[in-house]
Amino acid sequence: MCPPEYFTIDYAINPWMDTTVAVDADLALKQWQLLRDTLTDLGHAVHVLDALSGLPDMVYAANGAFSVDGTVYGARFRYPQRDAEAAAHERFYVEGPWAFVRPVHVNEGEGDFAYLPDAYGGLILAGHGFRTDLAAHAEAQEVLGRPVISLKLIDPAFYHLDTALAALDDRRVTYFPEAFSPASRRVLRQLFPDAVIADRADAEAFGLNLLSDGRHVVLNNEAAGMAEKVRAAGYVPVPVELSELKRGGGSVKCAVAELRP
Ligand code: ARG
Repeated sequence: MCPPEYFTIDYAINPWMDTTVAVDADLALKQWQLLRDTLTDLGHAVHVLDALSGLPDMVYAANGAFSVDGTVYGARFRYPQRDAEAAAHERFYVEGPWAFVRPVHVNEGEGDFAYLPDAYGGLILAGHGFRTDLAAHAEAQEVLGRPVISLKLIDPAFYHLDTALAALDDRRVTYFPEAFSPASRRVLRQLFPDAVIADRADAEAFGLNLLSDGRHVVLNNEAAGMAEKVRAAGYVPVPVELSELKRGGGSVKCAVAELRP
């Protein structure tokens, strides 16, 4: 995770960002700290990446890379405003016990890649259409040695895969069908007949931008309907307030890069 120390909305690269309204920096930091404490209280180790001035979106740490079994496929950002974030993430992995691979193709890390370790022996779901290039899906498959299922996103409000789909456990997903092309919807139906289906209200409340450890599902507290759906599916919803981060177009999942050593 990376604290929102320099968090502002100075540019707009997704429909949620409004440069005319100032962000509450203190509130953003408080909410972020609460999310970090929530994860720590659930027993997770949280590593913190230092925030860098001039990189207001760095708080969305999920976009910096994608790791599977100790191998890390680095990010290459779509927009120049976020370009320099990739090197900061790369440094973190290169200094640790990771095999880091710098990408050729544009991809925004876990923003557009999800991993299901127990589906078909390890399956990667990948989004394209707004940020990540389709060529990066094939590149990720070669780097990580896992099958990559390409899914086309069609609604600009749900510009990253992690705004429209999430893994609830090692083999089960939840998603908002209308965020995907009809063919990709069919693929999702075929692979995940037991998925938890979200609706537009769930997705707009960033209810799919969640973090699950297979039991606890940490999600935006505005996504009350989604919390009930995951509870009915057998998980324990853990709502957190992240109203400020939502103004940059992200929530719980965007703020956390999951490490898969
Ligand atoms: N303002 C950021 C952007 O548009 C938000 C990124 C959200 N991150 C995510 N994993 N969906 O790039």
